[in-house]
Amino acid sequence: MHDMLDLQQRIANGLANIDIPERPQNLYAPIGYFMRLGGKRIRPLLTLMGADLFGAPDVERAVPAALAIELFHNFSLVHDDIMDKAPLRRGQQTVHEKWGADIAILAGDNLLIMAYGQLARSPAGKLPALLESFNTMATEVCEGQQLDMDYEGMDAIAIADYLHMIRLKTSVLLGTALKLGAILGDASEADAQYCYDFGVNVGLAFQLQDDILDVYGDPERFGKQRGGDILANKKTYLLLKALELADAGTEAELRGWLANDRDGDAKVDRVTEIYDLLGVRQATESAKRAYVSHAYDALASIARPDDSKRPLQTLAQSLMDRMQ
Ligand code: IPE
Ligand code: IPE
Ligand code: MG
Ligand code: MG
Ligand code: MG
Repeated sequence: MHDMLDLQQRIANGLANIDIPERPQNLYAPIGYFMRLGGKRIRPLLTLMGADLFGAPDVERAVPAALAIELFHNFSLVHDDIMDKAPLRRGQQTVHEKWGADIAILAGDNLLIMAYGQLARSPAGKLPALLESFNTMATEVCEGQQLDMDYEGMDAIAIADYLHMIRLKTSVLLGTALKLGAILGDASEADAQYCYDFGVNVGLAFQLQDDILDVYGDPERFGKQRGGDILANKKTYLLLKALELADAGTEAELRGWLANDRDGDAKVDRVTEIYDLLGVRQATESAKRAYVSHAYDALASIARPDDSKRPLQTLAQSLMDRMQ
């Protein structure tokens, strides 16, 4: 097995070696800018960890798929920030804020094409299986993103709808990241599926933590605008739980804020106060722990020695507690 730093180094090298042309500058400068902002790069790490778990003859063979996953993720973020009207990402201006939406759309498109370019460098015999998983995931992410936006304007969203939506927009990418690694490590189909289930459940916990950090994170560390979800009327777990727990008066007040798109700062402050009064952060924390525990169940089912699974267990824990 390889240690975490070794795997991270392979990802950093692989990303650094991707050739980004000079011209047209307005196409490639935003791509270079965004890729250099970095991020945590946990998804490509999952791919390499998946390959390593099954003792891939050479973990290097999973690097192209890992890069494909990270490029896809970056594509989805550039477009997500347009849809969410987000000014900040990774502590810096978003691409559309810096260059405008037209340029951000095309930069995102090209990141997606680059993702497929990397995936195509995988061992030929594995390509059909990799492509099938990758494409299923990519379509599901689009479905999740559409639901996320549809829900902004709808008021009768149930927690089950929310969980379905975040499974699509966020969790299947983590599940697929690990599964691609498992496929490249010659895992059995059953084990590849357990890997997927582990990643999906970690992904659900990851998005719940993301919803918490959107309200309670330190913007300096989290790198995104505080209260962006509240401003956009996102149907987060926190909001849905608040609507569920609120008495009639508080629910009416919350619905009033949802209809208010003028007083941004006051809206974020007051909705956060209501969340505090109702204790929805604690409710979200406990849902998060339940998904991590489902993830551990899936991990336990994988037919590999316990000590080879420890790095994945540690990673799941650190993602659940992440502050950035
Ligand atoms: C952000 O993902 C998008 C979500 C699914 C919440 P990350 O928090 O992994 O973003 P980076 O890549 O580290 O910036
Ligand atoms: C993340 O949803 C899903 C995708 C980017 C596909 P969010 O909209 O919550 O992600 P952040 O908070 O902007 O990173
Ligand atoms: Mg979004
Ligand atoms: Mg967003
Ligand atoms: Mg978010």
